Amino acid sequence: MVHLINPFNGSPLVKDGDRYLDQAGSSFPIIRGVPRFVTESNYTDSFGFQWNKFQKTQIDKESPDQLGYSKERFFTVTGWDKEDLSGKDMLEAGSGAGRFSQIVLDFTKANLYSIDYSDAVSANFRNNGHHGDRFNLFQASIYDMPFPDKSFDKVFCLGVLQHTPDFKKSVKALIDKAKPGAEIVVDFYPIKGWWTKIHAKYIFRPITKRWSHEKLLRRIEKNAGWMMKLYKFNQKIGLGRVFNRFIPIVDITGTLPPNLSKKELKEWVILDTFDMFSPEHDHPQRISTVKKWFEEAGAKVTFADFIIFGNNYSSAIVKGIKQ
Ligand SMILES: C[S@@+](CC[C@H](N)C(=O)[O-])C[C@H]1O[C@@H](n2cnc3c(N)ncnc32)[C@H](O)[C@@H]1O
Repeated sequence: MVHLINPFNGSPLVKDGDRYLDQAGSSFPIIRGVPRFVTESNYTDSFGFQWNKFQKTQIDKESPDQLGYSKERFFTVTGWDKEDLSGKDMLEAGSGAGRFSQIVLDFTKANLYSIDYSDAVSANFRNNGHHGDRFNLFQASIYDMPFPDKSFDKVFCLGVLQHTPDFKKSVKALIDKAKPGAEIVVDFYPIKGWWTKIHAKYIFRPITKRWSHEKLLRRIEKNAGWMMKLYKFNQKIGLGRVFNRFIPIVDITGTLPPNLSKKELKEWVILDTFDMFSPEHDHPQRISTVKKWFEEAGAKVTFADFIIFGNNYSSAIVKGIKQ
């Protein structure tokens, strides 16, 4: 069991009705089932909007057509064994709507502590809150987590680090929370070469991230149909690899589950295209740089490379053991 602390002064917290209190009188409210350690509005508001709108879209158990895509990603990327996780205290940073929280809670007997800086935690709580004491969910930043250092047996952070303002500091924050000997696993958007940022996302996002969330979503919904057709046409004539990176739409064949129904595919495309164009931060990194940051933060790197799974999803992964 992990004891909660006030992330801003380190003092222990006790639950008192619908809030957590420390001895000095600091108080953190529990709102919609989730203790909150944040100011109301922050740079992750687009994610709060996104995950509350698309609460169930990427949750495996909500769609048999996903064929366990999140489960496959979680166990392939981490390499963890379900049985080994029994009774372990696990930290998940940046849980979004809880696609990986669901996998840990439904397929292992670990105790899960998940944080997200946005109100996505409300969606995650609606998806996974029924797991009771095994699931401890908090709205908190990776930089101000309500746990003492050296608390966790396993730490994972999937699809998050590129969206934080200081990637290196985020890596250190994760490693600080791991017990000596504990494993930390992250995946992230990689820099593959000089061409990485020659892409519709990096060309248009400086503008689109300033639009209201509603306006951006409306525009994506209106244009998704023809963009999907153009994407598929380019692929059919063999020009997908060259031209599709300039269509302002998610990489359909490279990142989405292969067997979605037509309706689900469109929903995933709209969600993931919003996810491309709305975030305040999007800072891809080289795998070798992240490896170096693991070592500087006190972890021995055991893996730093791409892993391919699903259709053709290539995930950049670094794993390490806290020394
Ligand atoms: C692309 S989503 C991924 C969510 C989830 N891991 C998944 O794969 O579905 C990135 C998440 O990182 C969260 N995030 C960004 N900065 C954060 C920070 N400083 N602390 C905690 N979470 C953060 C966002 O709120 C968002 O929910």
